[in-house]
Amino acid sequence: MIKQSAEYIIKSLQLHKPQIAVILGSGLGQFVEGLTKKKVIKYKDIPHFPQSSVEGHKGELIRGFIGNKEILCLNGRFHLYEGYEPEIIARTIYILKEIGIKQLIITNAAGSLRKALSPGSLMLIKDHINFSGKNPLVGRNNDDYGPRFPAINNVYSSKMRQQCLNIARRTKIKLKQGVYLMVLGPNFETPAEIAMFAKWGADAVGMSTVPEVIAAAHCSIDVLGISVITNYGSGLVHNQMPSHEETLAGAALAANNLIKLLYTFIKEEN
Ligand code: HPA
Repeated sequence: MIKQSAEYIIKSLQLHKPQIAVILGSGLGQFVEGLTKKKVIKYKDIPHFPQSSVEGHKGELIRGFIGNKEILCLNGRFHLYEGYEPEIIARTIYILKEIGIKQLIITNAAGSLRKALSPGSLMLIKDHINFSGKNPLVGRNNDDYGPRFPAINNVYSSKMRQQCLNIARRTKIKLKQGVYLMVLGPNFETPAEIAMFAKWGADAVGMSTVPEVIAAAHCSIDVLGISVITNYGSGLVHNQMPSHEETLAGAALAANNLIKLLYTFIKEEN
C-alpha cells in the first residue's frame, strides 16, 4: 500500500528526486504561494491516503521549486483528535521515505507556556514531550522502515537547527529554541495543565507534530520543527480563552517570518 501511494505521487506530480518535504500547520497554507513550477494533487485522489477534515487545512500535496530545489508540501495534516489511528500518520511518513525524502520540515501552531514567548513569535523545536497518550509505532513493527525500539534522542537534527539559527540571525528573524509538548486535544488546556507543563520544562503546547516526528525518527528522516506561537496557554497572562480564531490570527502574524526563514533554509540546504 505504501509503495502504491508513493508510485502514484511520483507519477502524477512528475517528481524528479525531492529531498525535502514540508508539513504545513494551521494557517500556513500561504507557504506554497511562492513556489515555482507547481503541481497539485488532492489527498483524496491518492490511493490508500487518508483524508483531512479540519478548518484551515486543505488536503493537498504540492510539488514545487524554491530556486533549483524541488520540494514536496503537505498542505493539511492528520490530527489524532480527528479520530485517525496513529498508524495512519506513520504510513504517511513512510510514503515520504519511499519517495526519497531525507529531510522533513514540520510546522505547527502552538500555545505558549512562557510569558517571554509571545504570540506571533517562532520557536525552533529542540525536543518534545509526548503527552498525547498515543504513538504511531504501536502495533506490529514495520521492519522495512525501522527497528522495533528506535532511539529518538537526537531526532530534531542539531545540524539543521544550527543552520536555521544562523539564517535567523543573519535575516534578523527572532527565533528561540524550546521544548514542544503534545496533547491529544481537541479541547484547549486547563490553566492547571498549562502550569504543570511549564514546570515540566515544556515551552509550547500543541495538538500535532509528535506522531510525525516519531515516525520520521523511526525511518531515519531528519527533522526540523518550528512552532508558530499563536496564543498564550490558558491562564498564563489573562482571562481570555484560547480559540481556533485566535490561533489562525496568530499564525498570520508570524507566517511571513516563517516563510522567509524556510525559503532561505531550503535554498541554501545541500
Ligand atoms: N493549546 C494546544 N494547541 C494549540 C494551542 C494551545 O494553546 N494553540 C495552538 N494550538
